[in-house]
Amino acid sequence: MHFQWYPGHMTRARRQMQEDMKLVDVVIELVDARIPHSSKNPDIDELAKNKARIILLNKADMADPEKTALWKEALEAKGFFTVLVNSRNGNGIGEVHKVIQEACAKKIERDRSRGIMNRPIRAMVVGIPNVGKSTFINTFAGKACTKTGNKPGVTKGKQWIRLNKNVELLDTPGILWPKFEDQAVGMRIAFIGSINDEILNPRELSLLLIDFLHSEYNGALSARYNIEETDDPAETLAGIAGKRACLQKGGEYDYDRAAGFVLDDFRNGRLGRITLESPE
Ligand code: G4P
Repeated sequence: MHFQWYPGHMTRARRQMQEDMKLVDVVIELVDARIPHSSKNPDIDELAKNKARIILLNKADMADPEKTALWKEALEAKGFFTVLVNSRNGNGIGEVHKVIQEACAKKIERDRSRGIMNRPIRAMVVGIPNVGKSTFINTFAGKACTKTGNKPGVTKGKQWIRLNKNVELLDTPGILWPKFEDQAVGMRIAFIGSINDEILNPRELSLLLIDFLHSEYNGALSARYNIEETDDPAETLAGIAGKRACLQKGGEYDYDRAAGFVLDDFRNGRLGRITLESPE
């Protein structure tokens, strides 16, 4: 299976992001904690090279906590500030405020030495589609506003959300595209559901996922579907089709429907907390 994906509005979004980036002190990049490498566009390192950098491992609630700890360590070793976040329920959001101050400590110090005391830090959120940028912005802005008792202050032109007296956040996130440097990256992005399923073959994709789960998270499929996992993914899929009564007219297994169950269950965290890649 080949993964190719070229959205038409990519260039425009990138140019817009480059412009927005000039206005901020710190870039908050969201990655999906289940695929921190594959959901990161390496071009951002060049685009944001003079900015303070924070990486949020979002959807940490769905990722394998042991692997997440390894990723956190690996990213911090590369000089990034990191926070584990669940943007849906707000876990980790408070920590982001603290880390913004840490990441911008030099700028704050520089301002102070020039006698500038009250200039807020300006931040923007970036990431590939579906990593949770909008959810994060809503939760982050919502929480901060209740905490400080302020309504988001909106100015004309660029829309900034005033989080508190120290931080302003650009209200629209910068969109990056995943970099399909190899097929494994495309495959993992497809597993988590960030490539339109219409351009993929769900049955083939589910077989690849079953194969991965059987070797890395042995038992996750048998626990969910009450089946025998075997070394042959097609056989495992047949077992799932049987248990879930996925039958076509005439009584043959409906493999596509069974594949849909597997992909959907994985994407919604019903197969457990699973991470698809480890740091080098
Ligand atoms: P984007 O702006 O980067 O494109 O992503 P968006 O916020 O639209 O989030 C994409 C999906 O990921 C949404 O689910 C959202 O609820 C979910 N999501 C975001 N952050 C987290 C998180 O930390 N943990 C979990 N488990 N999910 C998260 P959806 O199914 O597309 O929409 P909805 O059902 O929430 O309405």
